[in-house]
Amino acid sequence: MAELSNRLNRLAPSATLAMSQKSSEMKAQGVDVINLSVGEPDFNTPDHIKEAAKKAIDENFSRYSPVPGYMDLRKAIVAKLKNENNLEYTTNEVLVSNGAKQSVCNTVMALVNDGEEVIIPAPYWVSYPQMVKLAGGTPVIVNAGFEQDFKITPEQLEAAITPKTRMLILCSPSNPTGSVYSKEELAGLAEVIKRHEGMYVLADEIYEHINYIGRHESIAQFPGMKERSIIVNGVSKAYAMTGWRIGFIAAPEWIVKGCNKLQGQYTSGPCSVSQKAAEAAYTMSQDCVETMRQAFERRRDLIVELAKQIPGLEVNKPEGAFYLFPKCSSFYGKTDGTRTINNSTDLAMYLLEEGHVATVGGDAFGDPECFRMSYATSDDNIREAMRRIKETLAKLQ
Ligand SMILES: Cc1ncc(COP(=O)(O)O)c(C=O)c1O
Repeated sequence: MAELSNRLNRLAPSATLAMSQKSSEMKAQGVDVINLSVGEPDFNTPDHIKEAAKKAIDENFSRYSPVPGYMDLRKAIVAKLKNENNLEYTTNEVLVSNGAKQSVCNTVMALVNDGEEVIIPAPYWVSYPQMVKLAGGTPVIVNAGFEQDFKITPEQLEAAITPKTRMLILCSPSNPTGSVYSKEELAGLAEVIKRHEGMYVLADEIYEHINYIGRHESIAQFPGMKERSIIVNGVSKAYAMTGWRIGFIAAPEWIVKGCNKLQGQYTSGPCSVSQKAAEAAYTMSQDCVETMRQAFERRRDLIVELAKQIPGLEVNKPEGAFYLFPKCSSFYGKTDGTRTINNSTDLAMYLLEEGHVATVGGDAFGDPECFRMSYATSDDNIREAMRRIKETLAKLQ
């Protein structure tokens, strides 16, 4: 019988990857598509990091690494958490994985039982609800729309908690919205979590360094929260290392042990050469991070300014990451004469097919009123993409 497992049938394919694929197909046919659908820096990995990887190959770092990652890399991560976040962890409280994606999935698989609930603020990163379903858990979506800058309040969190709640997944700076929770906002959420025994927070901090409002704040910093927090982070976004596949968790030792057990049966330790590259990323000069951050900030200012000039779009000013998530629902029900736009997926498809700009509809992120554009691309691409979007949307009546 050609039937996939029930577990797999519960999963939805990644909408962001689907959009990227469609735009690649159009490009292959010779259409000049500008791709604003991808979630990765357009920069190359800095040279000193590449050199460390080459050295690792020459020095024969070619064998299985320890399941939780090399000790030297875990020490570098412990030092990073202390120096950058003022958080005290030991190497036994750190586990390195194949990208932050595996770190999130490990954590969910390690903590969530069948039927337990995981609170996910919407808009959310597409993989969170799918991972929760894969673990047999139930995603509980709490809506935080454009009007509240896409951030949930402590009251909303409290109202979503039931005896079955196991975890909150919080992403700040956020994909897809670019919103950043302030220290005070995080403190408010932490108070709610602490009131509920057995409740944890998975803090996805992968966009930590792409922050335009100052120092990154972690929810693990508040008294009593380190025990309740699983910090997820990695080198993908800050060091332009998406393809190297190195992420980590910092968490209570019993959770790290659980994830270690899972990882030991599933993938083993991550790529040895990538780990040496990640160690260089964390221990050598951090100038590259600031250079890229400044480029993203300039592009943020540019895309916000241009998007604000497009009639019908409502635009906020994201404080981090490299995404803009404008509200586009004023176009629903409108038509260009041949097709009618009924939702954000229709709008993204219309912009791709008619305007040759790839974006992603907000439906995929749990917010049907908005759509996502990644500005991790050149200033020229941003200018031309926004010109095309303005022209294409103007045809809708
Ligand atoms: C919010 C969020 N978390 C985690 C990841 C995964 O990062 P990695 O490439 O390190 O697996 C991404 C990547 O797009 C992301 O946007």
